Amino acid sequence: MHIGDLRTPAAVVDLVKLGASLAAMRERANRLGVRLRPHVKTHKCVEIARLQHGGQEGPIAVSTLAEARAFASSGFRDITYAVPLAPQRGAEVAELVRAGLRLGVLVDHLDTVAALEACAGVENVRFPVWLKVDCGYHRCGVDPVGAVGLQVAARVGRSGHLELAGILTHAGHAYHCRNREEITAVARQERDVMVSFAGRLRQAGIPVPEVSVGSTPTMSAVDDLSGVTEIRPGNYAFHDVFQATIGSCRVRDCAFTVVATVVGSYPEAGRLVLDAGALALSKDPGPTHVDPACGFGRVCGLDGEELEGLHLASLSQEHGTVTAATATLAARFPIGTRMRIIPNHSCLAAACFDRYHVAEGDRIVGEWRPARGW
Ligand SMILES: Cc1ncc(COP(=O)(O)O)c(C=O)c1O
Repeated sequence: MHIGDLRTPAAVVDLVKLGASLAAMRERANRLGVRLRPHVKTHKCVEIARLQHGGQEGPIAVSTLAEARAFASSGFRDITYAVPLAPQRGAEVAELVRAGLRLGVLVDHLDTVAALEACAGVENVRFPVWLKVDCGYHRCGVDPVGAVGLQVAARVGRSGHLELAGILTHAGHAYHCRNREEITAVARQERDVMVSFAGRLRQAGIPVPEVSVGSTPTMSAVDDLSGVTEIRPGNYAFHDVFQATIGSCRVRDCAFTVVATVVGSYPEAGRLVLDAGALALSKDPGPTHVDPACGFGRVCGLDGEELEGLHLASLSQEHGTVTAATATLAARFPIGTRMRIIPNHSCLAAACFDRYHVAEGDRIVGEWRPARGW
């Protein structure tokens, strides 16, 4: 089967591009002297996670407990659930820990610690706990220079049911950058905030075994990770238009595309309609801070090469509207024409699909199924 034979919309993973990005990040982690714990939220797929570790079931981070269960049942034994835990779900974590999984959970609040401690006591298990730190993104995490971080770490350290695995951060504000120089500065900030916070905890007598950082932009640009023990990039497996625009990768590194079919053709209006809308591509507005006219993804031919003059201007649920620079250009893509779209945000687009078609060149050589649900 070939890419052009797929029923559309279809998710396609380019095996060669995927392999190149995975090898580059593995090599980078080795060179920087840190453990690679890929965040599998991007693909949610055991086959790709194994490729990320050169064929092994190595350490990973997940974004849902459903992923934790799916990867654990495929042999992954060291997993960090890298989203703050809802206290009511402690029993599900306990079940996995009791089955022998090292499942780390995140905390940044004394109330969560109290709930986890109570749950671990009732369930008679010991939870590995990561203290989440805010290194400048201002989404989650303790203030690295405030009092709460020390209090939470000390409370975890004193607990008979919790083990402080380490401190963890995600420099999501790297996505606000406009170029590689800006990303490098955020990467250094991410490292420096964590190294100095680890020093503060150690000075207070609290052992910090691990210092975990990571996003795809910062890990694509960082030059020195002294004091850090592990990195957790996720998106780098697929890359996307956002990463290419801010300078984490090149457009040709993007391994994930959505194949779509022209189902509407209005050359006189300079417009085409694809059968891939927001439920195939997500509605991520993309890197508008760099390119206000970025649209909803890059329009490519079946060979993966960008089609000049075509712009994915808007999305509704099942329709993608492409504008063409001229009527003559629009007329070159009649009803039934297949195209490939590189999405703005591959993690969200991939999550729209229940299977990925694996491609080598234009040949489909396999099918992978991501874990779904929460
Ligand atoms: C806690 C955490 N760690 C790691 C990552 C991976 O970041 P990226 O997708 O930029 O590689 C994310 C992404 O959202 C995250 O939330």
